[in-house]
This record gives sequence, structure tokens and C-alpha cells, in this order.
Amino acid sequence: MFDLSPYCTHPGLTVQFREEVTSTNTLLRQQAEEGAPEGTVLIAARQTAGRGRRDRSFYSPADTGLYLSILLRPKLAPQEALYLTTCAAAAVALALEEAPGVHAKIKWVNDVFLHGKKVCGILTEGAIDPDTGGLQYAILGIGVNLFPPEGGFPADLPEAGAVYETSPDPAETRRRLAGRILDHFFRWYPTIQDRPFFDVYRNRSLVLGQPITILQGGRTRPAAALDLEPDFSLRVRERDGRVSILSSGEVSIRPV
Ligand code: BTN
Repeated sequence: MFDLSPYCTHPGLTVQFREEVTSTNTLLRQQAEEGAPEGTVLIAARQTAGRGRRDRSFYSPADTGLYLSILLRPKLAPQEALYLTTCAAAAVALALEEAPGVHAKIKWVNDVFLHGKKVCGILTEGAIDPDTGGLQYAILGIGVNLFPPEGGFPADLPEAGAVYETSPDPAETRRRLAGRILDHFFRWYPTIQDRPFFDVYRNRSLVLGQPITILQGGRTRPAAALDLEPDFSLRVRERDGRVSILSSGEVSIRPV
């Protein structure tokens, strides 16, 4: 057991720590299939095959990041799985903002930014219960770039940044942030269907009111982000003036 008790007071979590894994999401998924309970958490210091959304890899070098996955067995319909991702993004934002002077931003739908750089990505994966059609389990994977890697981030990650320049005790910094993220997340999780974190998420939006580029089905198109719907889908104005609702896809901020 990995002790997060100074930072996370939520009961019922079993936290495992490994120095190196392929992917915390992949390993926790195996545990879920073997019947591990809700609240099982896996944290790693390094991933050799970290995964991001859209089949991308997630850069996960040793000792510079927090790679964390949570096994959940929520009473949610598959289309409500977005609540898990957005709840996690809001929890990460609040955990980061516990440091003085820090203001986090959330880029719809699953990225957390500090000072214009992406410091956190979230990958939620689920399995459907064939009997009920609901979620059998979900694996909520959170990757935070804590420190800049030696030599900087790879050139193909121009958006990436780190939360801290350095720390006298990097392992403790990772432990504290993990604990604080879990504490915020599990405060909201029991009533997740009511989305008690909606305002925390919306108030930190990086895209609302901005000209954006929508990437959907391999194509891009310009639009303007108008607002969030109550279910976290994004209301946008298309170039021809029509208003449409995005529930998936990816957006980037367009320079005006
Ligand atoms: C993204 O930015 O596209 C999402 C990245 C999610 C990365 C985290 S790190 C912990 C967990 N394990 C993985 O393999 N991926 C997620």
C-alpha cells in the first residue's frame, strides 16, 4: 500500500505504486477484469507504453511525471462517462491551484493547462455491461508533467509544459499532488450524476468565447466556442452561423 494519508482523507482507496509499468491504464484494466474493487488506484514513476487519446502515446519518462489510474464502477450510462473525465480535470485544476498564485485552465475536454502549456492529459476508458448496457467499470487515467525532462520536451510536443521547475523532494511532490487530486475527485464522485464540479470546470475553460478549430472525423473546420451544455458537450457557432453541439472530437484555439 502507498500511503497518501496526509493529503487524501477519502476512505476506501487502495493505492498501489510501481516504479515502472507499461501503462497504468492497461494494468488497472487487467485488475478490473479480475474483479478488483472500485477505488483501486495505480500510480507509476514511469510508463514504457503510456497511452493518450486517439491512439496517441503519452510521453512518460522516469521521475518527471505523475502517472495515475483509478478503477471506478460508477452507476453511469456510457454517454455519461464524460462526467468522469471532466470531474478529473476539475480535480486536477483545484489540486494545482493549492499552490499560491497558480491559475489552471481546462481545454475542452480533457487537458489541463498552466501558463499556456499543457501539463495534464486525461484518458478515460470503459467497459460496457452487456446485461444492463451501463458502464461495468471505467479506468480514469491522469498524466501530469511535474518537472521538465532533461533536455526538454520532445519537439513533437510543442504544447507540453511542466507544473514545477524543480523540487527538493520530487517523490514527495508527486505523492502530495496524487493525494490532493484523489481527495478532490472523490469528494465529488458520490454525486457525480449531479455534476457538482460543473462551475469549477466551466470557470476555467480555455475555449469559451474563443475562435477554435474543430477536428472531427479527420477533418478540421473553424468555429467559435459559445458555451458548455449541462452534459459538458460544447455549443459552437459554425462559420455559416449555425449553432451546433459537439460531444466528441478535439478543438484547438485559433489565433485571432
Ligand atoms: C491525453 O493527453 O491524450 C491523455 C493522456 C493520459 C495519460 C495517462 S498517464 C496515466 C494513464 N496511463 C496511460 O497509459 N495513460 C493515462
